Amino acid sequence: MQLPNLEKARKRSREETLTKTNDYIIKESLKELGLHKKYFVRTYGCQMNEHDSENIKAILEDMSFTETDSMEDADLILLNTCAIRENAHNKVFGMIGRIKHLKEAKPDIIAGICGCMAQEEVVVNEILEKYNWLDIVFGTHNIHNLPNILATSMKKKGLEVDVLSIEGDIIENIPSKRDSKYKAWVNIMYGCDKFCTYCIVPYTRGKQRSRKPEFILKEVEDLVHNGYKEVTLLGQNVNAYGKDLDIEYRMENLLEDVAKTGIERVRFVTSHPWDFTDEMISVIATYRNIMPYIHLPLQSGSNRILKLMGRRYTKETYLELFKKLKKALPYSSITTDIIVGFPGETEEDFQDTLDVVEECKYDSAFTFIFSPREGTPAAKMEDNVSLEVKNERLQRLNERVNFYSKQANDMYLGKTVPVLIEGYSEKQGDILMGYTDTMKLVNVVGDASYIGQIVDVEITDVKTWSMDGKIV
Ligand code: 5AD
Ligand code: SF4
Repeated sequence: MQLPNLEKARKRSREETLTKTNDYIIKESLKELGLHKKYFVRTYGCQMNEHDSENIKAILEDMSFTETDSMEDADLILLNTCAIRENAHNKVFGMIGRIKHLKEAKPDIIAGICGCMAQEEVVVNEILEKYNWLDIVFGTHNIHNLPNILATSMKKKGLEVDVLSIEGDIIENIPSKRDSKYKAWVNIMYGCDKFCTYCIVPYTRGKQRSRKPEFILKEVEDLVHNGYKEVTLLGQNVNAYGKDLDIEYRMENLLEDVAKTGIERVRFVTSHPWDFTDEMISVIATYRNIMPYIHLPLQSGSNRILKLMGRRYTKETYLELFKKLKKALPYSSITTDIIVGFPGETEEDFQDTLDVVEECKYDSAFTFIFSPREGTPAAKMEDNVSLEVKNERLQRLNERVNFYSKQANDMYLGKTVPVLIEGYSEKQGDILMGYTDTMKLVNVVGDASYIGQIVDVEITDVKTWSMDGKIV
C-alpha cells in the first residue's frame, strides 16, 4: 500500500534530475485476468483525464476485460476523478454512494477510484476511514501499473491503494483506446511547476515533465498513417514544453515539427500567458494546419488579485499579448478561463476583470467561482466575500461573456468555413456535428458519408454556443 503525501507532492527536486523514459509492459500472466468480465469507466474533469481514461481502457482490454456503457452491468467500475473544484469532488462522492448499493447486491464487483482525487491525502484518508469497501485506488503517476494493482486487489479480495506522490519515469507506449477515429489527444508533457496559489494541479499531477520530441512525433505520424485528421497537444501549460529537456527544443519547435507531419489539424491546450513566445506566434501564423484557436486563461483582470494568484503577469501585459496574437492571427478565436470571488476580491478588482472581457471580447470563456483546495496557499487566505456576492459577480460576468460569444458567432453568419465532421449530434440524432478550425461547434445537415471529413460548411444560423450550417 502506498499513500499520497501532500508535503512530498509539493517538492520539486533541486538537482533537477532529468526524467527518464521507460516502456509500458504487462506480464503475460495478467493478460487474461479480465476474461468474461466487463468494465465501466466514468471520467470527470479535463482533457488530460479524458486521455488518461483512453489509456486505462486500453490497459483493461489488454487484460481481456470488455467495455460496457452501463454501470449496472459492469464487473469492474472505475471513476477517473478530478480535484480542481469542490463540485467535482462532490459528484464523485455521490457516485461512490451509488456504487455501494451495486456492490451490496453484487459483492464481486471490483470498484475503484483513480485520477486527481486519488492523489489527495484528505480523500484517500476519507476512503480508508469510510469507504474501505472500495477495491482499488491509484493515482495519476501509476496508470501503467494498473494490471498489477488490480491483480493484487483481486488476490487479497480487499482494498489496494497505490498512489505515488513523487512522479516516476515517463512511461511510453501505453496503449490507448481512442474515443474518436478522427481526432486524438496527444500528451506532450505532464505536471505543472507554476503553482498558481489556487490550483491543486501541481500537487496532483506533479513536476513538469516533457515527453521527448521523437516519441511525440512518432505518435502523431502513426495517427496520420491511421487516418486521423486532428491532434490536440495536451499539457497543463504547453507553452513551457521543453524547458525541462536536456536539448534546446521548445514549443515552437514542436509545433513546427508536428505541423510538418502533414496532419490536417493541430491544436494545443492549455497556454499560460507567461510562456507565450513570439516564436510560437510566428509558427502558428506560418502553418495553415496549426489551428487559429488559442485558449489563454486570464483568471482575473485585477493586478492585485493576479499577484495573489501568483500568475506572474499583469492586466497590461496580458492585454499586450492578446493584441499581439490578434494582430498576427486576425482570424483566430481566443477563449479564456476566469475565476471570480478569489479571497478578498473587491468590486473594483472584479470591475478590472470585466474591463478585460470588454476589451478582449472573447469567443467564449469558462467561468468559475473560486473553490478553496486543501493544501494550496489560497485556501488559507482570508476570504470576506460572501457566496451571494460571488454568485452575483459570476452572473454579471456570464452575461457579458455570453454577449460576446454571440457577437463573435454572428460574424460567421453567411460565411463558409471548414468543419471536421465528427459524427451525429447527441441532441438531434439525424444532424451531424463538428468543429470549425476556430473551434466553433456547428450542427450540419448531411449524411453519414461526411463523418471523418473536413468539409466546407455555410453557416445559416448562429446561437450563443453553437451554429447551424449546410455543406456546400
Ligand atoms: N477554484 C476555481 N477555479 C479553479 N481553476 C483552477 N483551480 C481553481 C479553483 N481552486 C480553474 C482555472 C483553470 C481552470 C482549469 O480551472 O480557471 O484555468
Ligand atoms: Fe494550475 Fe496554474 Fe499550473 Fe494551470 S498554470 S495547472 S492554473 S498551477
